Amino acid sequence: MKQTDEHQATRRFEGRAAIVTGAASGIGEATARRLGAEGAILTLADIDGQRLDGVVDQLLALGIKAVGQRVDVADEAQVCGLVDFAVDRNGRLDVLVNNAGISLFGHVTEITSEQWHRVMAVDVDSVFYGARAALPHLVASKGCIVNTCSISGLFGDSGLVAYNTAKGAVANLTRSLALDHARDGVRVNSVCPGGVATPMLASVLRRFGEEYERLVPMGRPAQPEEIAAAIAFLASDDASYITGHNLVVDGGVTAATGQPNFDRLIRLLRKAPDGA
Ligand SMILES: NC(=O)c1ccc[n+]([C@@H]2O[C@H](COP(=O)([O-])OP(=O)(O)OC[C@H]3O[C@@H](n4cnc5c(N)ncnc54)[C@H](O)[C@@H]3O)[C@@H](O)[C@H]2O)c1
Repeated sequence: MKQTDEHQATRRFEGRAAIVTGAASGIGEATARRLGAEGAILTLADIDGQRLDGVVDQLLALGIKAVGQRVDVADEAQVCGLVDFAVDRNGRLDVLVNNAGISLFGHVTEITSEQWHRVMAVDVDSVFYGARAALPHLVASKGCIVNTCSISGLFGDSGLVAYNTAKGAVANLTRSLALDHARDGVRVNSVCPGGVATPMLASVLRRFGEEYERLVPMGRPAQPEEIAAAIAFLASDDASYITGHNLVVDGGVTAATGQPNFDRLIRLLRKAPDGA
């Protein structure tokens, strides 16, 4: 709510129509609040229709124009229906935020083919379906797409093979779409968060909260509003010359090589210069 008050002055999306998927929770919900606070007319989608209704009610109470649709983004017909619904209602589409996603732990030998295909369908196919359905409307409005990728799409993690693969595809799909449609006046970018304090990461943070504090240079996971701010930037005219970019928002995690902490070593050596 505080954020909504703070950002009403900016209004970068006044009169613009946006779709946000995965808007019932976490980053998608925060993005809906941020774009709405800046004047966007919102069509929100999520597979959890009940929770989405709650978010829409809160936005309407704040004076934000929003409507929700229960959509499984892995289903092409439902994604096409979502885009048609938004364009019929608002007469235009300026911003598509392909944010809905799922994660899955496990080695290649531990996950089933069904699990693998579900991660690919929700995380990758959804971006393809959304982009294809939205592009004619985005060409008309000189609009843009922002995908929620991940630093797990730029580098590998242990025990995250399906998610690494899916988000890696999102990073390169972002680049390809950007190249193919730059001359159409459509920009395509992604945000690549590190750990974000949302329900997706809740169980990990419960168990590995201290490890996050130690390993993240900024000493904490992101708040969803910090990712929403980056999405809003990429979707706005402030990013008018940025396309094909996967914007890392990770508190410094990928600034590191992953080598041992030399700083700690130097301090230890200073304490015991003979190396003892
Ligand atoms: N939380 C993190 O640490 C983190 C880090 C990097 C990237 N991400 C990415 O951010 C995006 C949002 O995740 P979040 O952290 O806000 O998680 P979240 O679980 O809080 O929100 C995800 C939302 O997507 C919805 N969703 C899931 N499957 C769907 C489907 N098939 N169709 C429609 N909606 C569906 C869920 O119901 C939920 O509301 C995801 O793409 C995720 O991969 C998250």
